[in-house]
Amino acid sequence: MTILLDSASVDDALAAAELGFVGGVTTNPTLMARETAEPLTQIGRLLEVFPLGLVCHQPVGDTAEALSEEARAAAALARDRVIIKLPATNEGVRAAAALGAEGIRCALTAVYSPAQAMLAHETDCVWAIPYVDRATRQWVGGMELVEALATILARLGSDTRILAASLKSAAQATEAILHGADDITASLDVLRSLGEHPLSAAATREFNAARG
Ligand code: G3P
Repeated sequence: MTILLDSASVDDALAAAELGFVGGVTTNPTLMARETAEPLTQIGRLLEVFPLGLVCHQPVGDTAEALSEEARAAAALARDRVIIKLPATNEGVRAAAALGAEGIRCALTAVYSPAQAMLAHETDCVWAIPYVDRATRQWVGGMELVEALATILARLGSDTRILAASLKSAAQATEAILHGADDITASLDVLRSLGEHPLSAAATREFNAARG
């Protein structure tokens, strides 16, 4: 399993790296725009925070060609550690196919249907990335979506993994795994909450008090 931070902030990344269980960062254009107007420079900084970890970059563009051009520049920063997130659209799929043929590791993001996961498999993507909480707010529930993706990828004997994103709580993150997600990405607050429980905190206070 891989647990990633969903943020483009270097401060968040430094704090997440301290947690000891975070394997890298996912970014998207919205998160990136909050931090900088130079996304590739920021990807370089995030790669330095996680020297052995993964950093996901999501290019922007209306065509596969535009997406691919930015993707190639990002992948050149660290071929093995940069994963290109492409939108689950026909142009994104076309870019994934072209980039994959060049050995650039890709993922399809904003996945809302099993058909899109099937195309992530077909284009050898590392991940299909469903937006769990956003889907939960639609007619198709987020957990049902994760389960459908897991079923179809298992049926295909696929190496494509499910990276659950848009997770708003520890409960939602663990539920996504129970429904078949392989990996998760979440904000720093949600990542911090994974290791906490009020009863654990109470037990710790009790043990500390016993020492006097
Ligand atoms: O990486 C995807 C994620 O940022 C989208 O989720 O939190 O905006 O619903 P959210």
